[in-house]
This record gives sequence, C-alpha cells and structure tokens, in this order.
Amino acid sequence: MKINAYMPARIVSGKNCVADNAALLSRLGKKCLIVTGGGSADKSGALADCVSALESAGIAYERYGKIAPNPTVESCFEAGTMARECGADLIVGIGGGSAQDAAKAVAIFAANPDMRLMDIYTRTIPAKRLPLALIGTTAGTGSEVTGVSVLTNGATGRKKSISGADCYADVSFCDYRYTLSVPFDTTVSTALDAYCHAAEAYLATSCNDLTALYGLKAIEMLHGFVGAPSPDALTEGLREKLYIASIYAGLAINISGTDFPHTVGYYLTENYGVPHGKACAVFMPVLIGRAKKYCPEKLGAIEAITGYEASEMAARIKAAAAVDVTISREEAETVAQRWSAGVKNFDRSPGGFTVADAADALAGV
Ligand SMILES: [Fe+2]
Repeated sequence: MKINAYMPARIVSGKNCVADNAALLSRLGKKCLIVTGGGSADKSGALADCVSALESAGIAYERYGKIAPNPTVESCFEAGTMARECGADLIVGIGGGSAQDAAKAVAIFAANPDMRLMDIYTRTIPAKRLPLALIGTTAGTGSEVTGVSVLTNGATGRKKSISGADCYADVSFCDYRYTLSVPFDTTVSTALDAYCHAAEAYLATSCNDLTALYGLKAIEMLHGFVGAPSPDALTEGLREKLYIASIYAGLAINISGTDFPHTVGYYLTENYGVPHGKACAVFMPVLIGRAKKYCPEKLGAIEAITGYEASEMAARIKAAAAVDVTISREEAETVAQRWSAGVKNFDRSPGGFTVADAADALAGV
C-alpha cells in the first residue's frame, strides 16, 4: 500500500472563491499579466471577478488574450515576452485546459529571457518561473492541480507535454459557476476528458492507493453523465459535481499519469480536429478490454461503483464521444511509428502497449 504524491498548489473552491480570496493574489505580485483565450474568460464572468480581485488587492494588470485551443509554444513565447516587456511579476491564467496550460509555459518563458522557443521542452527542471494563479472555466482538464502543461509545436502541429515542479500553480481558484456558460457539447467533451483521466490513472500500473481514492471518486461522480449525456441533466448542482470530479480526476493523473488513450488521442485532435476529451474517450473500449485481461479486480471496482458491466460502460462512453472519423490500416500503421522510440503512457497501460497495438487501436476507431 503506497500513497506517494506531490501537489504543491493551494486549491480554493466554491462560489465567489476568487473575490473571497483576493488576498492570495496580493501575496504573489504587484503587476499581473492575465492569460486567456478568446471568449470563455469573458463569458463565464471569471475575467470580471479576477479584475475586481486584482483591483481590490492593488495589483495592476494587462491581458494577453490570444491563446487558441491546443495552445502553441509560439503563443506562449509571445505572451512570455509581453509579460517581461510590461514588467509583470505575476501570471494569472483564466480558461479551460488550453489557457491554464499556456499560462504555465508563459510563466516560465517570462522568467527566462535567454530561453529560446523549443528550450521549453529541454529546460533545466524546475526552471525559474513567475508566480502563477489559475482560474478554471471548464470541468475537465484538471490542470489546476497537475504539474503538466500540454503544448503544440506550431511548426509540426504535434502536441507534447512538459512537466515538473515548475508546472504547478501557486494557487488555483475553482468556482464551478464559471462552467455554467459552457455549451452542452463542450461540457460532454470535457467530462469525457475527466472520466478518461480517472480511469486511465486508476488502471495504470503506476496507480497507488491515493490514485485509486481520487480516481474511483471521480468515476463515481462522472459516470451518470458521461454514460448518457443529456442537456436536461445539466443543472447547477450537476455542473458543480462535474467540476469537483474533474479536480479529483486531476489529482489522480497528477500522481499516476495517463495511459495510451491520451497519447493516441492526440493524433485525432491534431489531424481531424476532434476535441481532446472525445479523442481520448474513443479508445476507452480498448483500455477496458486490456484491463479485463490484466487487472480484472480493478475493473470490478469500477463496475461496483457504476453498476454497469465495464464493456457496456466503455461502449456508452465511446457513443457519447460520437467521433465520426475513419482511419485506414495503412494510415494507422504509418502514424503509429511516431511512438516507436517508446512512450511512458504506453509502458504504464495495463499489460503494456506497443506500436502495433496503437496501429490496431487507430484502425479500429
Ligand atoms: Fe486530458
């Protein structure tokens, strides 16, 4: 029985948590660069609350609002340069996984003027970074509580994560009300992402007792919605539940990481524009199939919680993802070669996972 874990970010949650905890920001800096995407920070009300909190704490601010979904290293570099030029000593990221992950890289670029674009992947870990606060607006990413940031190389279009002690926030604000304006389809995708985080971390060979605690708790909270998503179900109470579940799932991957669905799913996002959560959920039946063979007792725990036979649950999740992509055997074989140098996510998947397995999974989409 092991409970190894490291998660240094302070979490505050609940209604008005940004306003109620403005003092936490005043300890971090005097001039802030707010990092956001195009719309959710404004629409959700999170930006307005953040600005009020900064003003009440006497912190000046500017905004970089050009973070796109699947944020590029280039945009983070640009925002990092802007942070230095405007004298920012604090970064606040507001948004879903894209804006939060980007803010982590921005805080690193801002503190390291000599760092070139791709040095973000090879930096000395931990690199210096500016103080960092995150405000989540979607229920899925878990970036609020992980030491990971997934970035896209703008030149190649490929997603690749960075991780380390420098990729944790100092403080994460988790007010579920910011998720109330998220459209139904996006809510399905982010909930699927959270479900995959929980299932992948729990089924990973790297799972410890604390992962199991967080992962199974998240599955318990998420399975009803992801098993049969319906717009009518999205009450305020369920929105709150989905957001807190995404934090539990984030705590699970923070300890044990994700498995092959997250790695192979990147390809569907990069080449077919499939939203991240749906791109991972497509591979849930393959993951469950392997778990049945290699760790049936864990699968039994999921079945006991959800009340579904595991392969039925996986089929429901794949149906909820509703991904309409067909990949030929030839394309699958070619793409799978990109993982031939070895991937941690493959190694910790139940029973291991090979390049040939990845080709089979892609061809089976
Ligand atoms: Fe994810």
